Amino acid sequence: MSLSLLVLAVCLAAAYPLYQYATRRRLPPHPPGPRGWPIVGHLAAPADPIYKTYQRWGEAYGSDIVRINMFGHNIVATNSLEASTDLLDKRSQTYSNRPKHGMTMVRDLCGFDYAIAFAQPGQFWLDQRRVFQRQYSQQAIKRYRHAETQATLSFLRNLLESPQDLFRHIRYVFGRQLVYSAYGIVTEDHDDPIIATVEHGLEAAVAAINPGKFLVDVLPVLKYVPEWFPGAGFKRQAKIWRESVLKMLHVPFDQAKDLLDTRGLPDDCAIKTYLTDIIPTSRDPEYAEKVIRAALTAAYGAGSDTTVSFMQSFFLAMTLNPYVQKEAQREIDSVCRGRLPDFSDYERLPYVHAIVKELLRWNPAVPLNFAHASAQDDVYKGYYIPKDTIVISNIWAILHDPSIYADPDAFRPARFLRRVGYEPERDPDVAYGFGRRICAGRYLAHEVLWITVASVLAAFDVGRVEDEKGEEVIPTGEYECGFLQFPKPFPCTVRPRSAAYEKLVLDAAEA
Ligand code: HEM
Repeated sequence: MSLSLLVLAVCLAAAYPLYQYATRRRLPPHPPGPRGWPIVGHLAAPADPIYKTYQRWGEAYGSDIVRINMFGHNIVATNSLEASTDLLDKRSQTYSNRPKHGMTMVRDLCGFDYAIAFAQPGQFWLDQRRVFQRQYSQQAIKRYRHAETQATLSFLRNLLESPQDLFRHIRYVFGRQLVYSAYGIVTEDHDDPIIATVEHGLEAAVAAINPGKFLVDVLPVLKYVPEWFPGAGFKRQAKIWRESVLKMLHVPFDQAKDLLDTRGLPDDCAIKTYLTDIIPTSRDPEYAEKVIRAALTAAYGAGSDTTVSFMQSFFLAMTLNPYVQKEAQREIDSVCRGRLPDFSDYERLPYVHAIVKELLRWNPAVPLNFAHASAQDDVYKGYYIPKDTIVISNIWAILHDPSIYADPDAFRPARFLRRVGYEPERDPDVAYGFGRRICAGRYLAHEVLWITVASVLAAFDVGRVEDEKGEEVIPTGEYECGFLQFPKPFPCTVRPRSAAYEKLVLDAAEA
């Protein structure tokens, strides 16, 4: 390189920060927030649980949006319903991207670049959303009801046989429903190879989305470091995880294809019409298959841990609030009169619907929304939000806002019931996210959760265990927080309400 070129390069390098500084001075201020180091900002994630930290910062800075610079990336957290809907719903043209940065490990190295939840808005993302619209709309999901009821009955039977394995049964009841509704594959209650395959892929995803854990998320260029290089353990780990992630994408899909060719597929599963009709007649069958593969994987991937978290919270809430359980059983008994509930009761059990809503609100499975990112510079409430800012809605803070929900920490399903002289509180739909990225499986989620909650309450009493002195052990109600939150292990009993219900469950599951 000639000397003059070198001098020019140095001058340009020095001029850029000055230029940035000069132009910044004419821009509105960033939203308030704790200051980190110059340029790089904060080098560690905010203290756990992060949603409480964001809420505290909001109070300290007197603003419902706060900003933090982490490793040089701009992060804005919206703590109120107003700010979240203003940005993510009303300005969804600007705020529907996913972050470019911070996901190199999960997206590029582990192979999750195909996943709808990580994809940038574009044709591939849109086509996957269309699959969800077609297969998981409010109308379309009704055809999965029979399979949901069957899976719920197996769950009840498993609870009768081994209540001590409650958490394992919870994982299988939803795994079974999601795999069947997507692929038409009937899985075993336990140790099923398909469920194990997708679970491994999911575990890899959860481990790989770990803000601050992998340096490659901060310095994406490290993804080019060869595996043998000292310190490149993350590349070797990513290779192992990638294998599980790709199996999750291909194994159930290919098995459904084989089934179609051999025994045939049931009509009430999403994949059938694609394999028999849509893919073969599409203009680009290879692309069409790629879209369907990705979308159906997401039906399990995005739907499984969220519903599991919800159901664990249900057992916790029933252990902590026996009067809620009694109230629900009164309602179910008056409508079902000794039989198990089914979807013909869907409109007639409002208190059970209210329990589902309250569970979504009380301890939302996703307390901090999946990150959105801004596609262009924006100004909101006088604050500057530059392009590529990561925007995180504090779902937990909204669902615990005392100006929307009276006594927000209390578990009170009745807040959602319309009564004479009382307006119900706002539906907790923000638990499913916002705008164009809103949860694509939310209607299915509500139905599977409703039938499971209604059936358990009809047939079982969830109660407290007693210690050696005969005193009831009351769970602490604490949660383990990551991207999703789950109750910390807690003791509870799950017993049939009577011998008649026990027989009902066994007969129904057998039938
Ligand atoms: C309790 C149950 C569930 C909860 C609380 C939940 C919550 C969420 C949230 C908060 C998001 C992020 C939305 C955003 O970025 O603004 C999301 C995305 C998503 N959910 Fe759910 N979800 C649940 C169940 C399900 C189920 C059962 C399915 C599939 C059948 C599903 C499929 C998806 C998909 C595909 C996305 C990604 C959408 C996109 O990025 O375009 N979810 N969910």
